Amino acid sequence: MSVYKRTHMCGQLRKENIGEEVILNGWIQKRRNLGGLIFCDVRDKTGITQVIFNDKIPQELFEKADTLRSEYVVGVKGKVAERESKNPDLPTGDIEVLAEGLIIYSQAETPPIYIKDDDNVDDNLRLKYRYLDLRKKKMQDNLTFRHRLSKLTRDYFSECGFTEVETPMLIKSTPEGARDYLVPSRINQGRFYALPQSPQTYKQLLMVGGTDRYIQIVKCFRDEDLRADRQPEFTQIDMEMSFVDQDDVMEVQEGYLKRVFKELKGIDIETPFPRMTYEEAMRRYGSDKPDIRFGFELQDVTELVKACDFKVFTDAIAAGGSVRGICITGAAESYTRKKIDKLTEAVRSYGAKGMVWMKAGESEITSSVNKFFSQEQLQQIAEAMGASAGDLMLFISDKNKVVFDSLGFLRRHIAGELGLLNDEEYKLLWVVDFPLFEYDEETDTYQAMHHPFTSPKEEDAELLKTDPLKAKANAYDIVLNGVELGGGSIRIHDMEMQQDMFRALNMSQERIDEKFGYLVEAFKYGTPPHGGLAYGLDRLIMLLTGEKSIREVIAFPKNQAAQCMVSEAPGLVDEEQLEELGLKLATPENK
Ligand code: AMO
Repeated sequence: MSVYKRTHMCGQLRKENIGEEVILNGWIQKRRNLGGLIFCDVRDKTGITQVIFNDKIPQELFEKADTLRSEYVVGVKGKVAERESKNPDLPTGDIEVLAEGLIIYSQAETPPIYIKDDDNVDDNLRLKYRYLDLRKKKMQDNLTFRHRLSKLTRDYFSECGFTEVETPMLIKSTPEGARDYLVPSRINQGRFYALPQSPQTYKQLLMVGGTDRYIQIVKCFRDEDLRADRQPEFTQIDMEMSFVDQDDVMEVQEGYLKRVFKELKGIDIETPFPRMTYEEAMRRYGSDKPDIRFGFELQDVTELVKACDFKVFTDAIAAGGSVRGICITGAAESYTRKKIDKLTEAVRSYGAKGMVWMKAGESEITSSVNKFFSQEQLQQIAEAMGASAGDLMLFISDKNKVVFDSLGFLRRHIAGELGLLNDEEYKLLWVVDFPLFEYDEETDTYQAMHHPFTSPKEEDAELLKTDPLKAKANAYDIVLNGVELGGGSIRIHDMEMQQDMFRALNMSQERIDEKFGYLVEAFKYGTPPHGGLAYGLDRLIMLLTGEKSIREVIAFPKNQAAQCMVSEAPGLVDEEQLEELGLKLATPENK
């Protein structure tokens, strides 16, 4: 079968083309037979053109057109004509093609999902038939956007003297805080590769190797719980620079993001971006990735209530926690008991055992804790909260982590409910001065907040040995509208300090040698000061395209259970394959 060489894409033809002989290739979106006239919409990734088969064409061609069904793949030859009834909703709505020839390249069964952008079909069905889902214009537009962003990224960093270098996929574990995906080695039985959670150690080795400025658009793998902005397999724009400090790294990123917004969105963003310390971000927004498009900032009322009669508050304070609240302007009336109960339920997942509300009236404060507080006390609290008549206040008392997590969630959730999250408004900021370590209650250990290669602030270097939890890091995150777009740090480039860091993490010398001996060894032979950053490419595209999940911008994402619905990975393997690898399943019956 021959192929009609197309002259135009299906979204391309306009009035100016009237009278031209054209050829289109594409899929049949729909076909209607109105007696002597067959209307077909032919679709490709760029759009739709209406094609008409009328009674002036040979009978044979008309009959062939009558066999067309949705999703048949066709080539159509014909003449562009002006439409009698124009369709203002379609860019090609002024014209139609009067068909003179038709090739049916392939037929199609009725597709299990309808190829339409706003088709509200179940997500799992969309993922199972992703190749059909991808035919939607929106999905193709997202893939094209992704391509343009990747190209711009390579161009920009290349102009800034960066070299793209590929790093291995079969590696030893790199600690980024998630579980590794492991790959058994056949040749080295009993040993496993890990898929990279990031190319962190390799990019540092590239700096030791004199690469000076490295970039890579790279797949990373983390076996962690999935969320709207998390996939087990995702893409980073990863970079590293030698002979730099924090300001140098930030300046390059600001130039990059400025160009991204200008070229891909037509938006001028102001640089430098505001910088906020981790401490301030937590105190004001309850989050280290604050959404600063709206207010509802946290207020600390601990001092004000520490001598009150409400045991829930005083107990939390006595245990070292705090009482903080947010004030939602004008929401007292719209937030009914039922809605507030729902919020109380929602904060349970952040560890909050309860939530107190207060509503400011014209002269009186009503609240869920009226019997524990005098009206005067309530007025004082409302004043401290900056509340006016008609405002709703919500309070959490607990240890600080629970208070911050709960209120951080509430302010964003409520802003969403109130329609205050404008997708077209982009508020970027740096969060800086992260703690070097965080304490993990469950395991009673210190964990590196960023990763163990991050350097402490110069003035805090000694604290690494004496009081690690107090040390601040040369680490920075870039945050956009409440999403952590990227993170990085200035690294430790001194072998001794790197060893101190591992020790502070309670790693024995044996374990250090086993896990990161190669890096420590490399540092012996002349290491430039270096630092870098990695963006989540999928997240950046999600935000720029206004999508709510990174799944919408990844061609073949995993579902909630980390499965590829198209290929049904992960799959079973043959007994012989296991044998070759020297593996035995602990629960073979589960097969
Ligand atoms: P970090 O762990 O902060 O830093 O990751 C960098 C960025 O990658 C994105 N990201 C993810 N995106 C989708 N799904 C996931 N599961 C996922 N996990 C992370 C986020 C995040 O900000 N090696 C360091 C970087 C460095 O220090 O240079 C690192 O990987 O947008």
